[in-house]
Amino acid sequence: MSATPRRVENLHTDKGKVPVYATGIVEQPWDDYSADDHATWATLYARQREILPGRASQAFLQAQDAMGMTPDRIPKFAELNQVLREATGWTLMGVEGLLPELDFFDHLANRRFPVTWWIRRPDQVDYIEEPDLFHDLFGHVPLLMNPVFGDYMEAYGRGGVKAHAIGPDALQNLTRLYWYTVEFGLIRQKDGLRIYGSGIVSSKGESLHSLESAAPNRIGFDLERIMRTRYRIDTYQKTYFVIDSFEQLMEATGPDFTPIYARLAEQDSIPAGTVLDTDRVYQRGSGEGWASDGDV
Ligand code: PHE
Ligand code: FE
Repeated sequence: MSATPRRVENLHTDKGKVPVYATGIVEQPWDDYSADDHATWATLYARQREILPGRASQAFLQAQDAMGMTPDRIPKFAELNQVLREATGWTLMGVEGLLPELDFFDHLANRRFPVTWWIRRPDQVDYIEEPDLFHDLFGHVPLLMNPVFGDYMEAYGRGGVKAHAIGPDALQNLTRLYWYTVEFGLIRQKDGLRIYGSGIVSSKGESLHSLESAAPNRIGFDLERIMRTRYRIDTYQKTYFVIDSFEQLMEATGPDFTPIYARLAEQDSIPAGTVLDTDRVYQRGSGEGWASDGDV
């Protein structure tokens, strides 16, 4: 049997040998990956590692090297877990796809990171709508090796459990924070802007676009501003937010968000491409190629 990607809604009808436990957790069916699956990993890995030096943050590149992911074949979660547990106490768990929000938060709060076990098809190397193994493993997992970022992810999980109890608006505010940091964040190094967001580092097109295109805005991190800002799920981002350091991120997100959620409930959301007078602007985007609607 080859390990072919399946749409989330089909997952429970065509399982083959992969047993699914209560919350979608699976044993990584490593022996079932096909030669094509391993080749897809190798192609994407080599392609990203070629363009990321000088574009991805030093912290990301260092962490990825320290993990010892295999470039030529899909890594075994069990092997990565030995390194990761030792470094920061995080554990990877195989999953079929996106989890219910509360399950996801609970895993993060307990330093368990869900990784999609299946990898995209060869014709999907440039773009896939839903997270697959390459996005999760190559994009998200390396920074779990970083002590400060690893703590941020755990704190986010606890914050998620809390926001879930408060209600859908709080959850939306928190999701935007995740989107503009964990998925699409930029960081300012002494030698210039760099990528740390996993949605960017796992995409060749967006790696180039986020740093080098004149189209998007690049704006200094501002917690409440980000929590009000809508985003794109079907195109490159119109705006990227830039942190100075992971410490800054930890510090800014340390306070209790409960009063912030209450305050934001009174305010309008901000369209994905808008620049405000109060923004610290690294680059005002030209807006070239932007879709006029479709912000979520
Ligand atoms: N301080 C946040 C809260 O009270 C928790 C949090 C930490 C959320 C880090 C996101 C990131 O909800
Ligand atoms: Fe992701």
